Amino acid sequence: MELKKWKLLTLLLPLVAYLLLFAIKNFSKPSVRSCSLLPHDHYWIASKRIVTPQGIISGAVEVNGGLIKSLIKEGDWQGRVHTEQVIDYGEAVIMPGLVDVHAHLDDPGRTEWEGFPSGTRAAAAGGITTLIDMPLNSFPSTVSEETLKLKIEAAEGNIFVDVGFWGGLVPENAFNASALEGLLNAGVLGLKSFMCPSGINDFPMTNSTHIKEGLSVLAKYRRPLLVHAEIEQESEELKNEVDDPRSYSTYLKTRPASWEQAAIRELLTVTKDTRAGGPSEGAHLHIVHLSDSGDSLDLIKEAKRSGDSLTVETCPHYLAFSSEEIPDGDTRFKCSPPIRGAANKEKLWEALMDGYIDMLSSDHSPSVPELKLFDRGDFLRAWGGISSLQFVLPVTWSIGRKHGITLEQIALWWSAKPSKLAGQDLKGAIAIGNHADIVVWQPEMEFELNDDHPIYLKHPSISAYMGSKLFGKVLGTFVRGNLVFAEGKHAPAACGSPILAR
Ligand SMILES: *[C@@H]1O[C@H](CO)[C@@H](O)[C@H](O)[C@H]1NC(C)=O
Ligand SMILES: *[C@@H]1O[C@H](CO)[C@@H](O)[C@H](O)[C@H]1NC(C)=O
Ligand SMILES: [Zn+2]
Repeated sequence: MELKKWKLLTLLLPLVAYLLLFAIKNFSKPSVRSCSLLPHDHYWIASKRIVTPQGIISGAVEVNGGLIKSLIKEGDWQGRVHTEQVIDYGEAVIMPGLVDVHAHLDDPGRTEWEGFPSGTRAAAAGGITTLIDMPLNSFPSTVSEETLKLKIEAAEGNIFVDVGFWGGLVPENAFNASALEGLLNAGVLGLKSFMCPSGINDFPMTNSTHIKEGLSVLAKYRRPLLVHAEIEQESEELKNEVDDPRSYSTYLKTRPASWEQAAIRELLTVTKDTRAGGPSEGAHLHIVHLSDSGDSLDLIKEAKRSGDSLTVETCPHYLAFSSEEIPDGDTRFKCSPPIRGAANKEKLWEALMDGYIDMLSSDHSPSVPELKLFDRGDFLRAWGGISSLQFVLPVTWSIGRKHGITLEQIALWWSAKPSKLAGQDLKGAIAIGNHADIVVWQPEMEFELNDDHPIYLKHPSISAYMGSKLFGKVLGTFVRGNLVFAEGKHAPAACGSPILAR
């Protein structure tokens, strides 16, 4: 009897030990949530239209360990790869993921407006693989090393694409080189400032002296200053009139093109410091969201010719809409600088096609519907900002195809140039050794942005694009080799990386 018991025990012991080990192993570590919708990290994606810096090729892109390992031209690849690890996209376009250098995700502090989780889900669904978050509209604004830390904490584990950060240049830090250096050393990719009130109390405006100081610090780091270029001018007309605040033309009158022109004229007294041999050589000035295609553009062309280190962006809403067609009370279209007339829009297109405007950005700037659709359409009191993040690729393509744009131009405006501005050498092109940041999309596919369309932004109803018919459907988005979005599904885990400058 004793012996039998003992025997049983020796038989059971290993089993008990095994079960115990199994339990420890599985309960002591968090459940694994995958960063990618693919089971492997070595694979090939094939198509007849791969947009590379050397032109459009037919073939396959080899991805391994998050990087682009090789490019194989058609005819070569079928025999050389493991066919079970090939995703053949056929005629769909394989293009570098979009790099959006101008987005407001309002995190931390105003996550009821957007936030990193919804904003980066929408970005991934729209083919954006990297976005650079603006230092204002979140709370607090990112104007110091400490406030940057709060941003990074908010982003970590919550982003589906890579996210970098601009810091704020404000009067409080502009004359304090060690404060600015602290912020730059902590990893902001550059600085942003306003030449008019920003609409956010803890982000006051700068004048040209502040900007000059900022550029001299940025020169050492070879990082850019982004400027909102509008300066308030006296507006005689409006003082004497009682205009209907529900009419878009009333709002347009409050921010005429002369505001942009005055700001750019003043900026150019400072940007000459960035010329070769100048006191701020190595610094770079970038004008955000240009709307005026009149004198502003002529000033910019002149400065570029003189060797100023200067670039300019505009946004899809300035290329898609014109003031004449904005309905009364439809404050979804309010932004600053404002959307101007149809003739202005055509000239913006021309400047973009001719290369005077360097790149595109979303300036995605949402708020809660109560603020955006204020008081049944009061343009003077509604929140200014267009919600667009998920739609910028199809919008650019849908309007651009009428202007004869090419896929290569989209890759230039949305990937290569913005990557360079943000100092991201390993992004912005399908090239060997780069991050495998890729969007796969079908330019010929049409869809309507309505309530049936999956939209991942926090407040779809405030977007001026709702109701539009667009061309260009995103089929898949890869961030550093992770398939983060495909066919209406996101990867289970948010594995985007915060991007910090070194
Ligand atoms: C400059 O900034 C540093 C770091 O934030 C701070 O400790 C210092 O007091 C500031 N100096 C002035 C004169 O404000
Ligand atoms: C900008 O403002 C600062 C005060 O913050 C002042 O010292 C400087 O003179 C101003 N510069 C210009 C050009 O107005
Ligand atoms: Zn903005």
